Amino acid sequence: MNGWVLFDLDGTLTRSEEGIWNGVRYTAEKMGRPVPGAETLRRFIGPPLEWSFREYMGMTPEEARQAQTIYRERYQAVGYLENRVYPGVRAALRRLRKSGARLGVVTGKPIGPTRMILDHFGLSPLLETVVSATDGHAEKEHLIREALPENPGEVWMVGDRRFDMEGAVKAGVHALGVTYGYGDEEELLSSGAERLAASPREIADLLCPETPWERGAFLSMEGMDGSGKGTQIQVLRETLERYGWEVVSCREPGGTAIGEKIRQILLDRENSAMTDITEALLYAAARAQLVREVIRPAVTDGRVVLCDRFVDSSAAYQGGGRQLGVDLVRKINEPALAGTMPDWTVWLDIDHQRALRRRCAVSEPDRIELADNGFHTRTEQAYRDLAAAEADRFLTVNADQDREAVSAEMMNQVLARLMEAER
Ligand code: TYD
Repeated sequence: MNGWVLFDLDGTLTRSEEGIWNGVRYTAEKMGRPVPGAETLRRFIGPPLEWSFREYMGMTPEEARQAQTIYRERYQAVGYLENRVYPGVRAALRRLRKSGARLGVVTGKPIGPTRMILDHFGLSPLLETVVSATDGHAEKEHLIREALPENPGEVWMVGDRRFDMEGAVKAGVHALGVTYGYGDEEELLSSGAERLAASPREIADLLCPETPWERGAFLSMEGMDGSGKGTQIQVLRETLERYGWEVVSCREPGGTAIGEKIRQILLDRENSAMTDITEALLYAAARAQLVREVIRPAVTDGRVVLCDRFVDSSAAYQGGGRQLGVDLVRKINEPALAGTMPDWTVWLDIDHQRALRRRCAVSEPDRIELADNGFHTRTEQAYRDLAAAEADRFLTVNADQDREAVSAEMMNQVLARLMEAER
C-alpha cells in the first residue's frame, strides 16, 4: 500500500481501562472517599478526568484538580504499565509496513503519556510519526492534517470512536472503524466509517490483502524438572500477550492429538522396559508432528510460538541423561525438525537437586523423574554444554532466585530479542 495509515491510540492500538480504573480507585482511597463501583468506573474512560471527578464523584472544582494530581502521579509511576496492546496489533503493523505503508499515531492523549506507552511497549520503532493533542488543538481533523506530509498518497485513519471517523471525513482521508475498541458498529458507520474491522488482523487484511504476514517467532523453554518452568512459561505468555503478540502455546512431548498419545506412552510408569533408543525416537516422532501441524503454520502467520520443551530436552535427557550421546540424538531429530529450530531458547538454570526437591514437594514424580541421581546430573551437565555452545540462541536465566526476580530476568532478555527482530 502506497500511503499512510494513522491510528488512534486508546481503544485502537491499546486498551487502557485497567490503568484508568486502578488510578481512580487509588485516588479515591488517598482522598478518603468511597471507591466507585464498576458502573461508575466505566464512565471514566473517554471524558477529561477533572470533569469526571466532578460529575461522577461529586467533587468541587478544587477537589477535582487535587484528584487529577494524585491520579497523574500514580499513572506516571505504574499506571501506564497497566495498558495492554490489543492482540495482533504488532503483526498488523508489521504487515502494513511490509506492504509499503507508512504508519503513525494520532491521539487526543497528551504527548507525555503517549510517548511513555509507545516506548514501553516497543511500538515507537514501527511508527514514523506521533501527533498528540496540544492546548486548543485536540480536534482529530487538525491532528490528522498535522501528521501528514504534502501529497501523502492514499491515507486511512483507523479508530474506534466517532471523533476518529468524523476527523477523517473532515480531513478528507479514508475512515476505517474498529469494533473491538470502545465504540460500536452503529456509532462508527453513522460517523463516516467506510470499512469496519473486528480485530487488528482484519485491518491488515482490508488494507493490504496481497501482502503476506511477516514471520513471527519461535521460542522454546527448557529446564530441569522443578526449575519453575510451568510458572515462568505462564508469565512469559501473559507478558507477551500484554505487549500485543499473539501467542500459540504448546508442550512437548504432545501439543497435537497424535503427540499427546505418544506422551502417554512415554510418561507411563508401567513402560519400564522401554529402551533408550525407543524413547528418543518417540520424542522425535511427537516433535515431527508438532513442527508441521502447529509450529510452522503459526510462525508463518506472524504469531509467536511458545513451546514448553523442544529438541534440547532430547539432547539433554536422552543424549546426556540416558547417555545416547548428543550427536546421535541430533541425527535422530534431523528429519523431525527439517530445519525448524527455535529462534531463542529460555533456559532456567538451576542445580538439579534443588530443582527436584521443589518438584517433588508439588506432586508424585513420573517415570523420567524417577530415574537415578546420575541421570539428572548428566542431564544438567548436557544442558550446560548446550547453552555454552549456542550462547546466542540460549537465553540463560538464573532460576535459583525468587519468582519475580526470575521473571524479570527472563522478560528483559526475551523482550529485547523480540523487539530487536521487529525493527
Ligand atoms: P512433563 O510432565 O511435561 O514435565 P515438565 O513439566 O518438567 O516439562 O514431562 C516431560 C518429561 O519428559 C520431562 O521429565 C522431560 C522429559 N523429556 C525428555 O526426556 N526428552 C524430551 O525430548 C522431552 C521433550 C521431554
